[in-house]
Amino acid sequence: MIPYGKQTIDEDDIAAVVAVLKSDFLTCGPEVDAFEREFAAFVGAKHAVAVSNATAALHLAMLVADVGAGDRVVTSPNTFLASANCAAFVGATPDFADIDPVTYNLCPVSLEQDWKKDTKAVIAVAYAGQSPDMPEIARVARSHGAIVIEDGCHGVGGGFVHDAKSYKIGGHPWADMTTFSFHPVKTMTTGEGGMLVTDNAEYAAKARLLRGHGMVRDFDLLKGFGVNEGPLAEQGPWTYEMQELGYNYRITDIQCALGRSQLRKLSNFIERRREIVASYNEAFDALSWLQCPQVSIEASRPHISWHLYTVQIDFEALGKNRTEVMMELRTRGVGTQVLYTPVNLQPWYRQTYGYSFGKCPRAESYYTKALSLPLYPSMSNSDVKQVIAAISCLA
Ligand SMILES: Cc1ncc(COP(=O)(O)O)c(C=O)c1O
Repeated sequence: MIPYGKQTIDEDDIAAVVAVLKSDFLTCGPEVDAFEREFAAFVGAKHAVAVSNATAALHLAMLVADVGAGDRVVTSPNTFLASANCAAFVGATPDFADIDPVTYNLCPVSLEQDWKKDTKAVIAVAYAGQSPDMPEIARVARSHGAIVIEDGCHGVGGGFVHDAKSYKIGGHPWADMTTFSFHPVKTMTTGEGGMLVTDNAEYAAKARLLRGHGMVRDFDLLKGFGVNEGPLAEQGPWTYEMQELGYNYRITDIQCALGRSQLRKLSNFIERRREIVASYNEAFDALSWLQCPQVSIEASRPHISWHLYTVQIDFEALGKNRTEVMMELRTRGVGTQVLYTPVNLQPWYRQTYGYSFGKCPRAESYYTKALSLPLYPSMSNSDVKQVIAAISCLA
């Protein structure tokens, strides 16, 4: 079975992990610092904070931006649960604006039209690796004093073009913070893992503090316990202070060694993803019942990292429903996925916030036609041909 997504691991990656297993540090060691430095340089951000997964990075972004009870956070309904759940983690209200019909990303016009004055942050997701219109989203959000968080989980290594200039996701002025995921189906992996990047030194320092229980050991940063008597009279090399309520969102050196090794190959991975996307586009162009993924600005095409290849299928015209199509593809050895069910329609969101059908009609219509086909760098040309043949045989 050809899955819809999968990691690509080679002997270099294995050797990098084994070297850490033989070293002195499995966690909190030099691989974490090196991965952060190299990743920050790669995307062009001043600071990078490596964490256990991107859900943790999104949670930290909320805490760092001081989002909490009474605040609203608007994101795209076409995303994984975590992009919205992070707002609920801190007691804020996750909310949704509809998607753009071309990119399936948060639509800046809908964002502006539905703006509510308690909105403190916007989380813009780069669905499938294609960036939303970040300059326009930032213009809308910042004109209301809201912070912009870019959920770049699908877009590790990708970028976009604005005013004839190229930018990397995580390395441009239209987001205050960007989060990335290194889950195995993403464009590079650490097993589980995530990164928060920002140009803001205060945000980075706070994220780092909260990643590790809010605990400070650096003698220069100690605040003192506010008392210097009783059992606290003597403070020394053992002293640590908890200055904030933090979490254990640490990532291991084992994971970061894998991340560094994967980062060196990321450009090749993305190149292969683009090749497969081009083959699919060419093969599916003539199918009247299938819409290939579209791009908003043609000049951005060579910069998109393509985490997913999601097509829109007119199941009525095809004469088969989605379950039948998925089962038929499965018998031909092709795995598929549906990404995503609009988050606002999940039972918990409907029960908790009263969201219902019709809130984001374009996301609903997109969802009913969506199917993500296999896409990962280690797909062979014959795998690609097998997928193309299986899709072409459907009609
Ligand atoms: C858009 C998006 N945001 C956030 C996440 C959460 O990432 P992680 O699994 O690393 O916590 C994912 C993971 O699938 C995602 O696709």
